[in-house]
Amino acid sequence: LAAEGAVYFIFGATGDLARRKLFPALYSLYREGKLGRSFAIVGLARRPRTDEQFRDDVLESIREFCRYKPEEGGDWREFASRFSYHSLDIGNVEGMRRLNESTLELEKRYEIPGNRLFYLALAPDLFGTVSRNLRDGGMLESKGWHRLVIEKPFGYDYPSAERLNEEIRQVFREDEVFRIDHYLGKEMVQNIEVIRFANQFFEPLWNSNHIANVQITLAETVGVEERGAYYNKSGALRDMVQNHMLQMLTMIAMEPPSRLDPEDIRDEKVKVLRSIRRFASAEDVSRRVVRGQYAEGSAKGKTLPGYRQEESVPPDSTTETFFAARLFVDNFRWAGVPFYVRTGKRLPVKSTEIVIEFKNVPNNVLFARRQDLQPNLLVIRVNPMEGIYIKTNAKKPGNDMTIQPVVMEFCQSCLVGINTPEAYERLIYDAGRGDSTYFTRWDELAAAWQFVDPIAAAWRDRPDELAFYPAGTWGPERASGLLAEDGFRWWPVN
Ligand code: BG6
Repeated sequence: LAAEGAVYFIFGATGDLARRKLFPALYSLYREGKLGRSFAIVGLARRPRTDEQFRDDVLESIREFCRYKPEEGGDWREFASRFSYHSLDIGNVEGMRRLNESTLELEKRYEIPGNRLFYLALAPDLFGTVSRNLRDGGMLESKGWHRLVIEKPFGYDYPSAERLNEEIRQVFREDEVFRIDHYLGKEMVQNIEVIRFANQFFEPLWNSNHIANVQITLAETVGVEERGAYYNKSGALRDMVQNHMLQMLTMIAMEPPSRLDPEDIRDEKVKVLRSIRRFASAEDVSRRVVRGQYAEGSAKGKTLPGYRQEESVPPDSTTETFFAARLFVDNFRWAGVPFYVRTGKRLPVKSTEIVIEFKNVPNNVLFARRQDLQPNLLVIRVNPMEGIYIKTNAKKPGNDMTIQPVVMEFCQSCLVGINTPEAYERLIYDAGRGDSTYFTRWDELAAAWQFVDPIAAAWRDRPDELAFYPAGTWGPERASGLLAEDGFRWWPVN
C-alpha cells in the first residue's frame, strides 16, 4: 500500500542524519513503490546549493548507505527529478512564503493533493521557530494533511520537554506530531508484540508466577566518536535510557491492547511507564543504579582512549557512558519481578538483546538440588543479529541422567535473501500513511522524563559515585552485583 501523495520536506538536508538515514530510506521506499506516484522531496538548509549539486550528494549517500543500489535498476533519474533543494533561513517568514510558492508549483506538476510532511532533522531548540514560521509563511494552508516528524532529544528533562512540546503544540495538533524513536522502527522490537500475543505458549507464562527476571542489554563497541559535544550534555541516561531502553521495556511489559490500534497500543504503553517504580531518594538511586564512564582500555589489541580524552569532552567530565539498573513494574502482572537494564559505549560487543529468564522447576524429588539444571530462557535478539531462541533442558545422550541446556533457535538474519527494511524506512512510511503506532506520544514522553529526572537529580548530588571501567569491558563490576544481590547473573550476550 503506497503512502498518499505528499511533499516530503527534509529540514537539515545537508546534515548527517539526512545523508546516512533519510535519503537512503526514501530511496528504498521509492524502489518498493511505497511513495506512490505523486510525491516530491524538498531538501532544505541554509547553505546555497543547486538542485544538481544536491542530487549528486543524495546519489552519493544512497550509494554508500542504501540497501538498494541505484545502478542496479530502478529509475534513479526519475527519483532524482523529484528531489529539489531550497536554501532557507528558517528564522525568516519571507523565506517560508517563497517556499510555499514553489511547493504549490511542485504540487501542481506532480498532482500532489496538498499533503505535506515536515521532517526536522535539526537541533530541537529550532523546532518551535520552524513550526511558527511554517504557519506564518502559509505552509500549513494547503488542503491536505500536515505532519511534523521530529527526533530526540525532546528536551533535557521534564520541564524543558514540556516547554518544547508547548511550542510545537501552538502550531500542530498531537495527532500531527510524529516523534521518532528509531528503536521502535526495528524489526525485532515490532516483533515483540507478535511473539507475545500470537503464541499460546508464551502469554500464559508472561507474568510474575513464571518469570524470574528480565534483562535488557543495549551494548555498543563505539565510543562517542565525533559527537562529544552533544553526548557530554546527554550521557547514557538521556541518550539511550529515556527513550530506547524504556521503549523496549514497555513493549515487553505492556498488557495486550484491546485492538491493534495506535491509540490503544500507546495507552497500554503509557500505563507501563507510569507503573515503573520511581526512585524515592538518592540512596535508592545509589542502591539500584550503576553509573559508569569508560577509561582507557583496549580491544582487539588496540589501545582505546578514555572518555575524558575524547574530542570535545572536558577532561574532568562526569558524564556517564554506562548505565545499569534494577527496575520494577509495580502492577499486578509484574509484582516483584526485577527488570535489569544496561547500556553502554565501549563495551565488548555491539548487541541489543532481551532475555526473559523463567523460574526454576519445583525443587522436587526428580531434580532436586541439581547443579546442571539451568533456567529456561527466551532470548529476543534485536540488533545487529535478529532472531529469537529458547533455551531448554534436555538429557545428554548417554547412560547417565546428565542434563544439558539445548537451544532452539530462529535466526532471522541468517536467512538468505532476507532484506529487512531499515528502521527509518518503516517510520517514514508509517508517518506518510498517518500510522502513529511506533511513534512516541506526548504522555509517554512525559512519563519517561518523570522517571528519569530523579535519577539525574540524585547524580548531581553525588558526583563521586561515577565508577570507571576500562574501554572494551562490561562496565563497572557493580553492574553484576546488582543481579548477584538477587541471586541472578547477566546471561552472556552474543
Ligand atoms: C542513538 C544514540 O539514538 O542510538 C546513539 O543517540 C546510539 O548514541 C544509537 O549509538 C544506537 O542505535 P543502533 O540502532 O545502532 O543500536
